[in-house]
Amino acid sequence: MKNEIQDKGWLLAPSLLSADFYSLKDSLSFIEKKGGDVIHIDVMDGTFVPQISFGQPVVASLRSHSTLPFDVHLMVEHPETQIESFAKAGADWITFHWEAALHHHRIITAIHDLGLKAGISLVPSTPVSAVEEILPFVDLILVMTVNPGFGGQIFIENAAEKIKQLKDKKLDGGYSYLVSVDGGINSETARVVLDKGADIIVSGSSFFKGSLIL
Ligand code: DX5
Ligand code: ZN
Repeated sequence: MKNEIQDKGWLLAPSLLSADFYSLKDSLSFIEKKGGDVIHIDVMDGTFVPQISFGQPVVASLRSHSTLPFDVHLMVEHPETQIESFAKAGADWITFHWEAALHHHRIITAIHDLGLKAGISLVPSTPVSAVEEILPFVDLILVMTVNPGFGGQIFIENAAEKIKQLKDKKLDGGYSYLVSVDGGINSETARVVLDKGADIIVSGSSFFKGSLIL
């Protein structure tokens, strides 16, 4: 994924978490057919979030079946231990949680050194002020509008206020990061977050149910 936005002004990133795991290859084709720009891949470790989803071998198996960029959203403790192996598996972007790490700048640098784009994700209770120091270094900020861990949850409107704050800071500081929004995105909430300036919208359950009209 380039750090560029297509003609429509934003990118659609369907989340594989809501796909049928029996036929993930078909889900990749479905995403391409329905206009997805990026494949959002939710990796869960059963510790940072309650469930375990999938890991590097699944990402590696999928890599040759899509030309779209893979944005790997790491919902894991100790994300620094997973960077290299996800890069090898075919990730284009690696997004890790602010709350799961201490040496953020070091992890961002490690991702960049592997030739990938680096993202930071914020759970709804983490304010923008927490990430101020790393804004100049990061390529993507993933604003979670649900508490991470499950698809199909209800959008937390308060958390979406961070989109505008991040866009303002980007302008003031001359930064280049994209703002992505993840959790509870349906036809109605997509409009809300796009109006606030989101560059990327992630959608799992609404997208795969076929009810996401944009
Ligand atoms: C939640 C994941 C999301 C999830 C979104 O922890 O990070 O990417 O797949 O699913 P929906 O769109 O159903 O909220
Ligand atoms: Zn996600």
